[in-house]
Amino acid sequence: MQYHEPVFVAEVMKRLRPQPGAIFCDGTIGSAGHGSLIVSALGGRGTFIGLDRDPAMLERARTRLEGMQEANGVRLILEAAKYEELPAILKREGLTGVNGILLDLGINSLHVAHDAAERGFSFSHDGPLDGRFNPNEPGTQSVESLVNNAAEADIARWLFEYADERFARAIARRIVRERAVQPIRTTRQLAEIVALCYPPKLRHGSLHPATRTFQTFRIVANDELGCVERGIRACIESLLPGGTCVVLSYHSGEDRITKRLFDEYGSPRPDPSNLYSATTTKGLEYRVEKRGALKPSDAEIASNPRARSARLRAITRLEVAA
Ligand SMILES: C[S@@+](CC[C@H](N)C(=O)[O-])C[C@H]1O[C@@H](n2cnc3c(N)ncnc32)[C@H](O)[C@@H]1O
Repeated sequence: MQYHEPVFVAEVMKRLRPQPGAIFCDGTIGSAGHGSLIVSALGGRGTFIGLDRDPAMLERARTRLEGMQEANGVRLILEAAKYEELPAILKREGLTGVNGILLDLGINSLHVAHDAAERGFSFSHDGPLDGRFNPNEPGTQSVESLVNNAAEADIARWLFEYADERFARAIARRIVRERAVQPIRTTRQLAEIVALCYPPKLRHGSLHPATRTFQTFRIVANDELGCVERGIRACIESLLPGGTCVVLSYHSGEDRITKRLFDEYGSPRPDPSNLYSATTTKGLEYRVEKRGALKPSDAEIASNPRARSARLRAITRLEVAA
């Protein structure tokens, strides 16, 4: 079976410190690269919750984890769900919280692999313009629907805000012009339209001209930034005392939200009824890693180019009485 190569493995494990018998969650399990290491560290006891919004990805994780000898004796709860659903899953399973959570955001390299062209995530392989983690999720809109129906001004704004695309207006204008002639239905069609908006000398750089456009439509189609906002809050609030939440992001918008939420939870919020108390309004306290986001080393980038844009942040719930 093909696997996604996990990023920041040693750094993630150092911060999560999974102990035998503990309760851990990988909220974006993917093909269980990090997840399988966490399960191994549980020493044949404890509970592991693995979630993925993409049911096909969850099944890959299930095959891998259920085939591991080290998983024998570990209570595995594997579910096709968004990590913002963690509190409801914990409640249903009779658990009060978790000792650690990993969120490794964004797409899996298997989403853009050549045998996943029908998922519509990749501009390198022709397929239908879908780009959704779970097309059966109520309320989601495919990239095809966005590309063919969104207002020109919205497309330009998304490209600018989510991807710093310098040719945002030209791309939006061209999409609207082309879709008036015939609907844009495939990844190749969209990639070709976008490439034509780039000056010829910039069309063959190290980054394909369509990279930012595909990333933007995927983010919008899946409401990824909304999920990060709601999901990180849900995960922080699911930590047991002493538990750590590690977030790996690959997009500046995701990292900005992570930083803002960590700062919000990590800064002492005085209880208004006691001016001298450093207790937060929820009666909990969190500590954020002081040095900010961890960036990958040159060695990590050399061995796994996907690590280039990765940023790691961690927040820990302190062992204080509520
Ligand atoms: C970077 S991959 C994780 C890779 C994983 N750490 C590994 O080692 O294989 C991110 C995964 O998160 C999933 N995902 C994206 N948004 C999600 C969400 N809101 N909730 C749960 N899973 C999500 C994607 O389907 C993808 O499989």
